[in-house]
Amino acid sequence: MSHTTQTALITGASAGIGATYAERLAQRGYNLILVARDAARLEALAARLSSDFGVQVEVLPADLTNETDITRIVHRLQEDTQITLLLNNAGMSVNGEFLAADIDSITTMLTLNITAPTRLAHAAGNSFRARGQGTIINVASVLALMHERSNGAYNASKSFVLTLTRALERELQPDGVRVQAVLPGLTRTEIFARSGASLDGVPPQMVMEVGDMVDASLAGLDQGESVTIPSLEDMVQWQQYDEARALMIPGLSRNQPASRYQR
Ligand SMILES: NC(=O)c1ccc[n+]([C@@H]2O[C@H](COP(=O)([O-])OP(=O)(O)OC[C@H]3O[C@@H](n4cnc5c(N)ncnc54)[C@H](OP(=O)(O)O)[C@@H]3O)[C@@H](O)[C@H]2O)c1
Repeated sequence: MSHTTQTALITGASAGIGATYAERLAQRGYNLILVARDAARLEALAARLSSDFGVQVEVLPADLTNETDITRIVHRLQEDTQITLLLNNAGMSVNGEFLAADIDSITTMLTLNITAPTRLAHAAGNSFRARGQGTIINVASVLALMHERSNGAYNASKSFVLTLTRALERELQPDGVRVQAVLPGLTRTEIFARSGASLDGVPPQMVMEVGDMVDASLAGLDQGESVTIPSLEDMVQWQQYDEARALMIPGLSRNQPASRYQR
């Protein structure tokens, strides 16, 4: 990506991965629209980025678990033709096993991690397609590929994001719109403290610094990737996994049960 006068709308821009993307995109010359709940933090970031990089930064406080607020951001994506990049990044996790976790927190998480990015991607996807350009980056997680650990509902929300992104890629590619799913591994941000978890005790070689994670993701975007896994050294492993999945497709829906189920 070269320097540009385009505008990026970033959700979850007040902290962590979103705030780091905001800085990197400002560095690339993007004007920014920053979305999160904490208006004061967004204002402070906006002031710093516009002063450091000479870009225009607007703050749009919103709670993306709130229907009215989601709709406000949807309308902005539908109406503002300057927006050429949507970063669906806002997200939360719930600590502990699925059954042990508080169901209200899980429901809130599903709204933030699934409903909000779905609505925003739908609005941006249609706007970008009509204009024949644009980029949608959806932040999933490597937990999208792991059924074995963490809170199952969090992992499933990230599997949803991965599946939706790949389906969107198929729909939007013919019209020149870029779509990327980013699958970070453990990244040092506030997300753990917010859910009452901690990175203490996690081997340091498993935790990436947020700047490295975002730089790798943008490098993946520049390289044309539609799925970026910043930690994974051997991308052939992902390709083989995906090819094995695709190989099953012809057998997944047939008019006869598999022979092992027949007497
Ligand atoms: N850190 C990791 O290890 C990791 C790994 C894989 C994937 N991810 C994903 O990366 C994304 C960013 O996470 P992070 O690690 O940067 O977490 P973070 O440091 O906790 O930041 C989360 C961001 O989302 C915003 N947010 C939270 N609830 C919101 C709501 N109801 N409405 C609007 N904005 C809200 C927060 O801002 P406000 O509090 O101001 O609203 C903040 O800007 C998430 O989707 C997460 O699932 C993280």
